[in-house]
Amino acid sequence: MRTARAAALIAVASIGAFHAQTPAPPGTPTGDSVRGKRLYEQTFRCYGCHGYDAQSGSPRLVPMTRTQAAFITFVRKPSSPAMPSFADAPMQDLADVYAYIRSLPATAPSVDSLPILRDILQRRTSRP
Ligand code: HEC
Repeated sequence: MRTARAAALIAVASIGAFHAQTPAPPGTPTGDSVRGKRLYEQTFRCYGCHGYDAQSGSPRLVPMTRTQAAFITFVRKPSSPAMPSFADAPMQDLADVYAYIRSLPATAPSVDSLPILRDILQRRTSRP
């Protein structure tokens, strides 16, 4: 009886976890994420609009929902005038940028990246 209840609880919990997860886009990135970071930040300056962690700006790029091919197609020839075109960017460069974006955490930024919030939380927990 107790075992059945525990099993039911685990089942409910895992359904919740399943729904909370964003499905990964199909396919595995083929690019080099380390090189992609440099391209994202220094060469193409994507961070200027999308943020260093790709979480901010317009719009956030994580979690990435596009496949690598769809990503490259969009970045070279965006369907929206709000996004600049990177028509001349080599395929390999964009594959690397894609690998970098896919390597970024898709969850919200950690508390450690938000100093003021971190200080408030530390003050709270250090109180007697
Ligand atoms: C000048 C600002 C700017 C820069 C620089 C920029 N973007 Fe964007 N990007 C945008 C805007 C604005 C949109 C939203 C377009 C829309 O949907 O109307 C967008 C959309 C996108 C999307 C589609 C997101 C989605 O969920 O549909 C991708 C992918 C993307 N950008 C990747 C990049 C990459 C990679 C770079 C660097 C090579 C880059 N962007 C540089 C402004 C920028």
